[in-house]
Amino acid sequence: MAARRRLQGSARAAKLFSMKIKLAEGLAVRKSKINGKGCFATATFRRGRKIAEYAGELIPDAEAERRAHNRRVLRICAINSNWSIDGSRWGNGTHYINHSCQPNCYMKILYNHILFYALRDIHPGDEITLDYVMTLHSDKKRCACGAENCRGTINKAGQS
Ligand SMILES: C[S@@+](CC[C@H](N)C(=O)[O-])C[C@H]1O[C@@H](n2cnc3c(N)ncnc32)[C@H](O)[C@@H]1O
Ligand SMILES: [Zn+2]
Repeated sequence: MAARRRLQGSARAAKLFSMKIKLAEGLAVRKSKINGKGCFATATFRRGRKIAEYAGELIPDAEAERRAHNRRVLRICAINSNWSIDGSRWGNGTHYINHSCQPNCYMKILYNHILFYALRDIHPGDEITLDYVMTLHSDKKRCACGAENCRGTINKAGQS
């Protein structure tokens, strides 16, 4: 009985999660070995091909700073010095991309759109990872990417 209730509970949680988040094509959100949940490929993305665009709520810089200050997990990405996108609302799965010191994708801002491209061939099941060096993440957070060349932090610290 308790097991059945647990199952119903987790099915409901999964349904609520899928109702809330509309994933970009070829992406899934699953538990990650790096940190919490991560963004995974369900399709092949060849080197140099676009993976997806960062989606979310468009917010002015002052609001981005206020939110970034109050949150432990940061899902805010700056477009320029005036505007940012907060993926916590209306994100499409790209807001779960974890950092790796040996990433398989990179981010490019093009005409105010934040786009992710494959740095090398990405296959279904691969976790999509980015170097957070261009983001607003703190350089104090210890990195858990597990790469051989891990610099130890998810942002710049340690780099020459
Ligand atoms: C955009 S979220 C990524 C999704 C996050 N894993 C989750 O479950 O919500 C960014 C946050 O994930 C964590 N994170 C991402 N990459 C990490 C890494 N390589 N090592 C440690 N923490 C990481 C940090 O807390 C960071 O602020
Ligand atoms: Zn690392």
